[in-house]
Amino acid sequence: MAVERTLSIIKPDAVAKDVIGEIYSRFEKAGLKIVAARMAQLSREDAEGFYAVHKERPFFNDLVGFMISGPVMVQVLEGEDAIRKNREIMGATNPKEAAAGTLRHDYAESIDANAVHGSDAPETAKQEIEYFFKADDICSRS
Ligand code: PPS
Repeated sequence: MAVERTLSIIKPDAVAKDVIGEIYSRFEKAGLKIVAARMAQLSREDAEGFYAVHKERPFFNDLVGFMISGPVMVQVLEGEDAIRKNREIMGATNPKEAAAGTLRHDYAESIDANAVHGSDAPETAKQEIEYFFKADDICSRS
């Protein structure tokens, strides 16, 4: 299985709950190494750009409003099968449907405030990583 990188965001609700460390521990226990990280207060423009692919969806304004409601923690995860593995650790988009033991089951309140984001495919992972990090910011550990 190839070593991949994926973009992860710990959203404002989970940052406010002080569970960054617990979420990082889940990543590390699953073999996903944190190879870049920064905390950020996204501007409206940042969030609209990041979620531009969803701009026609009815929840777009709510999603953007939520993502700028407080600081987020943004990281690049590296490891074998990292994109799929991270999505598995995250659980379903709607926490009510997320399996026990997943991050959204354990830390998310609702589909609007669902604790974490993770890239869904290799092309989006590349674009999303480049949205937040320069190549020099990433310390490969593979
Ligand atoms: S996904 O994870 O991309 O497959 O899910 P998708 O259903 O396509 O949703 C895209 C992102 O929009 C968020 N979302 C919502 N936000 C607010 N309100 C509602 N109703 C809602 N439905 C979906 C969802 O969490 C995805 O955000 P990210 O940050 O990618 O997880």
